[in-house]
Amino acid sequence: MNKISKKIVKIFKKKIKLNKVYLHEPDLNKSDSVYLKDCINQNAVSAAGKFIQKFENKILNLTKAKCVISTNSGTSALHISCILMNVKENDEVLVPAFTFVATANAIKYCGAIPHFIDIEENHFGVNVNKLDNYLKEISIKKGNFCFNKKTGRKIKAIMPVHVFGHFMKINELIKLAKKYNLSIIEDAAEAIGSYYKNKHAGTFGHIGVLSFNGNKTITCGAGGAILTNNKKVAQKARHLIATAKIAHPYNYIHDEVGFNYRMANLNAALGYSQIKRIKKILKKKRKLFNFYDKIFKGNIYFKLINEPKKSKSNFWLQTILINEKYSKFTKKIIEDLNDKKIYVRPGWELMNNLKHFKNCPKMDLSIAKRICKRIINIPSSSFLERYIK
Ligand SMILES: Cc1ncc(COP(=O)(O)O)c(C=O)c1O
Repeated sequence: MNKISKKIVKIFKKKIKLNKVYLHEPDLNKSDSVYLKDCINQNAVSAAGKFIQKFENKILNLTKAKCVISTNSGTSALHISCILMNVKENDEVLVPAFTFVATANAIKYCGAIPHFIDIEENHFGVNVNKLDNYLKEISIKKGNFCFNKKTGRKIKAIMPVHVFGHFMKINELIKLAKKYNLSIIEDAAEAIGSYYKNKHAGTFGHIGVLSFNGNKTITCGAGGAILTNNKKVAQKARHLIATAKIAHPYNYIHDEVGFNYRMANLNAALGYSQIKRIKKILKKKRKLFNFYDKIFKGNIYFKLINEPKKSKSNFWLQTILINEKYSKFTKKIIEDLNDKKIYVRPGWELMNNLKHFKNCPKMDLSIAKRICKRIINIPSSSFLERYIK
């Protein structure tokens, strides 16, 4: 085992009373099953049922978005959001090279082209300054649209991501998007419960997306939500996720190609139960961050990622960034910790390296390249704080 791994393993074994520590497990309890049983007792397990509305109301309350539309995943919410922001075949959409694959896939689903952009070092969000300089060089404004001078294609939108629940520099990005006439599709899949100056993630862009997948801060099992302040956009979203069926008691008429992306009542019941406890869950996640902050203080090998200034992170995935000097050991540390049943994982492979995105346009990605090989996500389940010695 490598020297750094040994030190981390020793700390974990000494401080956490568990033989196996998983990366992120859902925070479930008996009260969750009460609502799930209710769905079964009511024969309401699918797209009709009281919990869908109840869950959406809770999200409205938490995020203060004007409209919330629940979906069957964060990925489907991103796909519909791209359609609603008028992303069409052969348009380009700016997207960070460092994100989960769903962000870039959603662009592809529309026949559009992801255009990969670099990130900043501290919280891994879009590097707005660098992007501004890049767009000055490669773009030209014609009428109301921004075009890529090199490819001749329209650049329609940008998809910022709040990586691991930490806010990217959203206000700077809003200014940039205005300057280049870009729609903002805010991927807040990882950021339920994260705020910048008391405003919830996903409510800054023209449209925003949350995920309630099993590995997220709160879960529906699988699920997502679209956030928007525009009632017309919300109406269209509801139509598209429900196969574009025209409302009628028994006729099946669909007025365009729609999707089967609605959230099921069963999933909403779990989400409703979970969101009722979100404050407690967030508190526990913050406590876990404080614990890591304390036990790793003064180490020379890595830094623990804290929340950005003026924001409140949900601390979805706790993250360490190995210092550049020790960068080459990252892979070995990950292997060693997994061998010792401390289940950590590396940062995502950069999107531009994936086979299906190889030929997509990209800017200089030197920061993402330098950073992504040094990221390790460490165990982050909210209930871990119960096992702290
Ligand atoms: C940044 C990001 N975008 C989108 C998604 C997709 O969400 P889902 O898994 O609910 O489809 C995820 C989920 O892992 C994510 O982390």
